[in-house]
Amino acid sequence: MPKIKIEGGHQLTGTITVSGAKNSVVALIPAAILCDEKVKISNVPNITDVNDLENILDHLNATTVRKDGTIEINSSDIINKEITYELSKKLRASYYFMGALLGRFKKVDMYFPGGCAIGARPINLHLKGFELLGAKITEEDNHFIIEADKLKGNNIYLDFPSVGATINIMLAAVKAKGKTIIDNAAQEPEIVNIATFLNNMGAKIKGAGTSTITIIGVKYLHSCFHEVIPDRIEAGTYLIIGALLGKKLKIANMIPNHLEALIAKLTEAGVDMEIGIDNIIINEVKDYKAVDIKTLVYPGFATDLQQVMATFLTQCKGKSLIEETIYENRFQNLLRLEKMGAEFKIAPDNRIAVIKGKAKLKGTYVDATDLRGGASLLVAGLIAEGETTIDNISYILRGYDQIIEKLTEVGAKIEII
Ligand code: UD1
Repeated sequence: MPKIKIEGGHQLTGTITVSGAKNSVVALIPAAILCDEKVKISNVPNITDVNDLENILDHLNATTVRKDGTIEINSSDIINKEITYELSKKLRASYYFMGALLGRFKKVDMYFPGGCAIGARPINLHLKGFELLGAKITEEDNHFIIEADKLKGNNIYLDFPSVGATINIMLAAVKAKGKTIIDNAAQEPEIVNIATFLNNMGAKIKGAGTSTITIIGVKYLHSCFHEVIPDRIEAGTYLIIGALLGKKLKIANMIPNHLEALIAKLTEAGVDMEIGIDNIIINEVKDYKAVDIKTLVYPGFATDLQQVMATFLTQCKGKSLIEETIYENRFQNLLRLEKMGAEFKIAPDNRIAVIKGKAKLKGTYVDATDLRGGASLLVAGLIAEGETTIDNISYILRGYDQIIEKLTEVGAKIEII
């Protein structure tokens, strides 16, 4: 099994260019099958989640051509059949085929999706939305058949502004008859990116990026060209790395507005950043002070940055408090950081952790338990004294495009062994 080996303590200088957003592209690819013609998507990151989605398209007889960061998808000859357990389980975002196939064929047959084990992650809100659009759901042992005679627009209130449910309901509603209104919708930038893609194909979606999204169903969706937005979680990860090791390190091709909560917290800790229109330069600072963070839906502090931020907080002087409000099981990385010398306490409900800094981290063997937890260990390895070996790195490679190459380019000593 490949592992990541890091020799810690090297300063980083130069430019890291951020890739296309994982959480956008993993919805754009399934959304493409709603198109009655060919679509082309650019700024596609080279991550294994994209390969897994391509395998699902291939299984459904849709063709894909991927070259130089673009993917062309032609689903004119698509065959609607069961997406097998193995394919469904490969990743969380396989669930977007529920909305997309339901929208196109009024029927979908697949299994409960996979994804990182960071909490229960039910899909009840997605299913409630499909039912309100007129679908009937049969579920047995995590195998779902969702079908409708016809899909009809409706008013759908989400009990929680779920990213997945908001996108999935949009996908099912774009070709439904009449008007759908999603209230208490998630407002993440990725949702705006998906809505823009669908609108470029001829869909009629208004309000994406606010808590009320209105969709007027259309009959036909035509060919279009679309670009994936920069990955705000990848950009945030590199900002944190820059805060710890950067010497005039530039994070390029990012949208600072998408990271307001992180930037505010880093600034509060004492990080020195020059914020440009599409880049941030991080200057060297020796000492940081503790800050508290609470994960929230967008535009709050992203749960996907909480674990990497935890590594940063081990280097801040004083006690920092992390409150994780989105997932029930997102502190597994702390137990690995402890092996490296971090000091912390986790409350019995597993929702609050207090980190005591500044800790001297030492390289050792650790295993990644999930994507962002793996990134948290990787950042720890970069600042630790000595050598760190990270196991289970497939988690990290699911979501970070060319992370080894990008870090090597700016001076890190990191390799896959
Ligand atoms: C997406 C992102 C993930 C990110 C998360 C929150 C993708 C592929 N993944 O995940 O990286 O961490 O948003 O920003 O884009 N919930 C329910 N019922 C549902 C749906 C969700 O109770 O039907 C709960 C979940 O258990 C969780 C919370 O809502 O506690 C957030 O989930 P959601 O926003 O749906 O996250 P995902 O779409 O799974």
